[in-house]
This record gives sequence, structure tokens and C-alpha cells, in this order.
Amino acid sequence: TDPAAATRLLPGTQAGVADAAALLRAGRLVAFPTETVYGLGGDATDSAAVAAIFAAKARPRFNPLIAHLPDVTAARIEGAFDANAEALAAAFWPGPLTLVVPAGPDCTVCDLARAGLDSVALRIPGSPLTRDLLAATGRPVAGPSANRSGHVSPTSAAHVLADLDGRLDAVLDGGAARVGVESTVVACLGDGPRLLRPGAITRAMIRDVLGQTIGEAGADDAARPVGPGLLASHYAPRARVRLDAIAIATGEAALLFGPQTPRGLDNAVAARSLSANGDLAEAAANLFAALRDLDASGAATIAVAPIPADGLGEAIRDRLARAAAPR
Ligand code: TXA
Ligand code: MG
Repeated sequence: TDPAAATRLLPGTQAGVADAAALLRAGRLVAFPTETVYGLGGDATDSAAVAAIFAAKARPRFNPLIAHLPDVTAARIEGAFDANAEALAAAFWPGPLTLVVPAGPDCTVCDLARAGLDSVALRIPGSPLTRDLLAATGRPVAGPSANRSGHVSPTSAAHVLADLDGRLDAVLDGGAARVGVESTVVACLGDGPRLLRPGAITRAMIRDVLGQTIGEAGADDAARPVGPGLLASHYAPRARVRLDAIAIATGEAALLFGPQTPRGLDNAVAARSLSANGDLAEAAANLFAALRDLDASGAATIAVAPIPADGLGEAIRDRLARAAAPR
């Protein structure tokens, strides 16, 4: 059958969840909402389903996927938790945190989803609808962000369809994603926790739980697979992205933050504000939709106002830096 004829929009109801779970159990692909971004879901134990995820996104197979689970009991089957992982799981799950831990002896997440690594990335999403789906599916669900590889992540069902319509069987509609940037990824591989990707669980929140400053992943770190998610260019709109802009040039689109008006705003072909009063959580929630909107204006360049680097600002700046990186 040709899935192109049949990407269905499933409502975020118990009936929609049941339909989505049945499709996942049958090895089909279903995009699902989480509090961060929408994921492109497939049965993580089924290498054919996982291969279909890589193909649908055009994602290189050396970049491993996150396995989504409904609860900690299910997560413990897949991976081995050291004291740091236990503390982070207790503090932040369910929520926007992914833990990379050694795969356990009974791990059911297939090798392809783990890109052949002896670690596994685990996440228990914050949204009850998502956990209902995961519980009904009864298997770990592999879920990269449901966008074409390298493009802006989706924060609504419409964004998923804009990128992947016809490349998956269904989208479960959970409305707009509340957080708006992907989960914080922390590796706990026995040699001290390391931050692989900043997100809504901030460095300061992690330090408060662990009582130590979290380390960075080095370029040759085993916890840091060579993958596009960690390469410079990612999360990229079609337009060029110019960071820390304090003035707008003729023909540019403007992405604003806070009450300040950049010089030359009248020159902008389009403008969006991430948060008029400078709220970083609001800015994160609006980030990817605003980039998609400004891209649709046709402007060759999106000029982005300065965003503070503290708290959630680190994750926003990380995504914008990748969007701005040479392609
Ligand atoms: O918020 C999120 O995390 C979303 C939603 C759908 O859950 N998912 C997401 O997946 O952002 P993805 O595939 O776009 O990003 C997963 C990141 C990648 O940077 C990948 O390299 C890293 O996690 N990762 C996965 N498994 C890993 C492993 N075993 N070791 C190190 N990094 C890993
Ligand atoms: Mg992604």
C-alpha cells in the first residue's frame, strides 16, 4: 500500500490514541505529540519500522534515536542507571529530559535504533496523552523529531504534515507543543554526567539535583556519536539566519525578542516576536513556528535579535546557532 495516499490525522482522544497504538504495533509510522516537539514514531524493537523512520526523514543511519517509554519501570528494562541517572530520572521524569545510559542485558531497543552503540537514549515524555500512547503500544517507541533531517523541528501536527505528508501513516494531534525545543540530552555512562544537548531542563536545574556542575561532551567522546544532530548545521530553515542582529537590513525578515525594537525594523519584509516581554519559556515555545513563518515570507535572510544565554536561553541559542551554521 502507498502511505502517500493515507497520512491520517488522528484526534488526541482515547480513540485516536488506540488507533495510533494499533498502527505502531503493526510496524507502521505514526507522528506523535510530546511536550517538546512532535516525534516520528515507530516500534523501536522492530528494525524494519526503525529503517522506515530513517528513510522517511532521510536521516543518516549513524545518528541514533531516542526510545520513548511510559514509565520508569519500562525504562529500567532497557538501560542501566547509575546514581546520577537515578537522581535525574527521579527529579525530571516524566519531562523534557533524555538519558543516555548503557544498554541493559534485556534491552529491546534494536541495534539500528541505537546506531550500533552499546548505549541507549531513553525518555519519558511529560504529556499524559503521549504516555497513554506509549502504554497502549507496550513497546519502546523510537522517535526522532518529525521533520526532514536537518530542517526545523515540528511543534504542531500541521508542521509534521508540511515536512512529511505521505511519508508516514498517521499523525496523532496533540495541539501545539508546550516547551517547543527538543529535550535536554544527558549521558550517564559511569564516568560523570555530560550534557549532550541543552534543553528545558537547564544546567542550573541539573546542578541543583546532582550537586555538581555537569560536564561537556568532547568531540571524541564515546557518548557523542558522530551524527547530524550534533553537527553544526541543523534545525535550519531555507533562509539564511543572522544572529544577534541589532539592526534590520532591507529585505530581511526579523525575529524579535523582548521589548526593544531593532533599528530598521520598517525595512523588514516580515516580523515575528518570540516573546514581547522577554520570557524565555514563551520564546522557546514560539521558536520553530516563528522560523517556519518567516521562511514562508520568502526573505533570503532571517535576522534574529540577541537572546540571553542563561537558563532556557542556552537551548534557544544552541538551535539558532545550528540554524545559522554554514550548510
Ligand atoms: O524532545 C525530543 O528529544 C524529541 C521528542 C520527539 O522526544 N526527539 C528528538 O529526537 O529530538 P532526535 O532524534 O531529533 O534527537 C536525538 C538526539 C540526537 O542528537 C542523537 O544523536 C542523540 O539524541 N542520541 C540518541 N541516542 C544516543 C546515544 N546512544 N548516545 C548519544 N547520543 C544519542
Ligand atoms: Mg531532530
